Amino acid sequence: MTNDIKAGPLRSRAWFDNPSNPDMTALYLERYLNFGLSQEELQSGKPIIGIAQTGSDLSPCNRHHLELAKRVREGIREAGGIALEFPVHPIQETGKRPTAGLDRNLAYLGLVEVLYGYPLDGVVLTIGCDKTTPAMLMGAATVNLPSIALSVGPMLNGWFRGERTGSGTIVWKAREMMAAGEIDYAGFVKLVASSAPSTGYCNTMGTASTMNSLAEALGMQLPGSAAIPAPYRDRQEVAYLTGKRIVEMVHEDLKPTDIMTKDAFINAIRVNSAIGGSTNAPIHLNGLARHLGVELTIDDWQTYGEEVPLLVNLQPAGEYLAEDYYHAGGVPAVVNQLMERGLIHEDAPTANGKTIGDNCRGAIIEDENVIRPIDRPLIDHAGFRVLKGNLFDSAIMKLSVISKEFRDRYLSNADDPMAFEGKAIVFDGPEDYHHRIDDPATAVDERSVLFMRGAGPIGYPGAAEVVNMRAPDYLLKRGIHSLPCIGDGRQSGTSGSPSILNASPEAAAGGGLAILKTGDMVRIDLGRGTANILISDEELAERHKALEEAGGYAYPAHQTPWQEIQRGIVSQLSTGAVLEPAISYQRLAQG
Ligand code: FES
Ligand code: MG
Repeated sequence: MTNDIKAGPLRSRAWFDNPSNPDMTALYLERYLNFGLSQEELQSGKPIIGIAQTGSDLSPCNRHHLELAKRVREGIREAGGIALEFPVHPIQETGKRPTAGLDRNLAYLGLVEVLYGYPLDGVVLTIGCDKTTPAMLMGAATVNLPSIALSVGPMLNGWFRGERTGSGTIVWKAREMMAAGEIDYAGFVKLVASSAPSTGYCNTMGTASTMNSLAEALGMQLPGSAAIPAPYRDRQEVAYLTGKRIVEMVHEDLKPTDIMTKDAFINAIRVNSAIGGSTNAPIHLNGLARHLGVELTIDDWQTYGEEVPLLVNLQPAGEYLAEDYYHAGGVPAVVNQLMERGLIHEDAPTANGKTIGDNCRGAIIEDENVIRPIDRPLIDHAGFRVLKGNLFDSAIMKLSVISKEFRDRYLSNADDPMAFEGKAIVFDGPEDYHHRIDDPATAVDERSVLFMRGAGPIGYPGAAEVVNMRAPDYLLKRGIHSLPCIGDGRQSGTSGSPSILNASPEAAAGGGLAILKTGDMVRIDLGRGTANILISDEELAERHKALEEAGGYAYPAHQTPWQEIQRGIVSQLSTGAVLEPAISYQRLAQG
């Protein structure tokens, strides 16, 4: 089949118009005619464009794509293409048990098979909810067909008693209010639901808003399109324009590897800092880069991103929500500010055929409360700090969400203002934490450092978003909200906790967290980027030896076949939690 694919000027000719194989051509034609496409259309030489549909009833965040796809089709037709819409494995961040972290790589695998094995010349990737975006970009990267992403758009702003309520972020607050007896359970549900007033993805700067903004910063979406709220008319219009544009991209042979270069990734890292992006971004972008064959490391996030100021004032780091972000100018306004400091590789090509510099130069900030000019940022250094030590080879901390309470309580040592020491309280997975956190016998106090292990890609298949742990009720009642949290899992992008997360290697892969004991003293030095258990080298070696003899860190049994398969081949969070064997398959459409 590989040779057949290159039979004509368009890849789809190998299926529908292949003189060297008339029997198969008839068979392919026969079945795609069966719902009403004509032979003339299928043999017209028009590009055949897939619409990778991530929306469904099971995926409410992306469900609006079912509507938008109609406008995408009209755009494709208008530009002289033929649309074939197909479903991709659903991913719903909040609905999937045990975690949607399992599904990114599964949807990726499915998309690769579809793009490689069916008569498609280009594809529109419908993105939105957290992992739908990296899954679609990763699949397109591996196959390397001309591809363009279309965001479903965020929800409208949520409101409750005159205040903005943001997706996810309000849950943390509502939980604390309920624990403190300020609201009952009915009030809790009402408050949480107020944050989701329309179709679309999370309206905070969580992983969804982050990844959609970064897909635009990478050049894979039409400029200015990432932030348009889902229900707005502009969203329908950009769906149409995206459909038109992908047909041109096929004629131009503009492929993911042409767009997503190292420069594009550096741009994305800087935009991520400026928007206060999610700690899931390094996982997804590092993984995406590996599928493209672009060198990108966890250290690059600190190198390129740490000094970049925070410009976007969105919850959880700030005050506003996605609708405000759109009205303030969205990604182009942010990029234009970064360009003024020379922080953007302006020559990076994008999906519309122009460079990111040409697309964003002069983009105005429409509301300086929401997007700050670069000379008046919210925070000077907003990127991630990468930490290393005997606890792990790497973990990251989002500097932009360190609260005043946290700073006052932990970072107030005049001699060493960026370091703190504390007593480790170790939890093995989220269930253990939920059972024991409020039990006085666990003995958490205001000098404790909470550890979550067994929550990485192997330990908790897919890696759970559980590292941010609330303090016990008895401390909350005393007004102590932020305890330092460290772990080998992920954290929801909608949480504002100053956690140290994505620790790699995880406990289940023999990382230092596996040998940590409750009661150990740990020292975290944010200035020097170190995180260590304060034990001797001999003791450290002995504990590692004992762990090995015990057969390693024990984790729960697989629940599904995919959990077992993925656990056997998944990389650590620092390298994208990708399926290692998939990395050697690149540029399949050119193969
Ligand atoms: Fe889907 Fe937040 S849960 S975007
Ligand atoms: Mg999430």
